[in-house]
Amino acid sequence: MHSTAFHIQKGGVGKSTLSGNVAWKLSEHQKTILIDADPQGNISSWFLSEPPQYELADILTGGCSTEDGIIQLSNQLSLIPTFGLDGSLKQYAENTLNDEPFIFEDLNEALSRLGYEIIIYDLSPGMSRLEKCILIATDEVITPLTPEYFSIDGITIFRNELTKLNKNFRKDIKHNKVVCNMLNRSFRRHLSLYSEFTRMDMQLFTIPQDSRLAESQLHHQSIYTYDPVAKSITALNALADAIKAESNGS
Ligand SMILES: Nc1ncnc2c1ncn2[C@@H]1O[C@H](COP(=O)(O)OP(=O)(O)OP(=O)(O)O)[C@@H](O)[C@H]1O
Ligand SMILES: [Mg+2]
Repeated sequence: MHSTAFHIQKGGVGKSTLSGNVAWKLSEHQKTILIDADPQGNISSWFLSEPPQYELADILTGGCSTEDGIIQLSNQLSLIPTFGLDGSLKQYAENTLNDEPFIFEDLNEALSRLGYEIIIYDLSPGMSRLEKCILIATDEVITPLTPEYFSIDGITIFRNELTKLNKNFRKDIKHNKVVCNMLNRSFRRHLSLYSEFTRMDMQLFTIPQDSRLAESQLHHQSIYTYDPVAKSITALNALADAIKAESNGS
């Protein structure tokens, strides 16, 4: 079992869009589960047109079994949702998580026993207890960035936080992949920031700006079902392949 989180403390960079689509691709070959761990519940409203019965917080508090909290999205892809409206995840994180910092490791083990090979967490853009407890339960974290002036600062801050987490919890969470998302090569500004990204000592993936990604979400679909020839597909496949390779090594 391999667990990956898409994270940085910056909003709107594509964490949810990449988590959902990459999970969709990975599920072609491996039993995959997507965990909506963002109290905004964006992944859940994207993939579900009906409100689910249970949410992640119910599994964590024992309000339902792990199996009952899982929704099947396709043959090999499942989702543990979070209610964006009136959800309990934030409350759980504020009131109870402090006493159970390793609960996401327990959840990963339970999912592994159910046969899941890949776990993808979508996180909110914060670095509160919730995000920290999830990060320490993951094998690797992948950071999406957009070609903006403050992105390099953002990743430096994020790497410092991760170093502290690894040290304090005696972990070795890998962080060697960054994604330059929403790149438009016809903007000179994007190209010059992109060249700064290439100087980082990390594996760099590039996803083009693609309006079909946002459209597919409005239609409650992955880009793979909505538009299998969309211009972002090849790049998303490359990212999914890299996660697959990482999972084979873990
Ligand atoms: N490559 C892309 N091309 C065009 N639009 C994109 C691309 N990636 C993401 N988007 C759009 O950008 C918006 C923000 O993306 P998304 O919600 O995935 O970001 P996020 O990092 O998860 O945000 P938050 O921090 O609020 O959770 C969405 O409307 C999404 O459809
Ligand atoms: Mg999001």
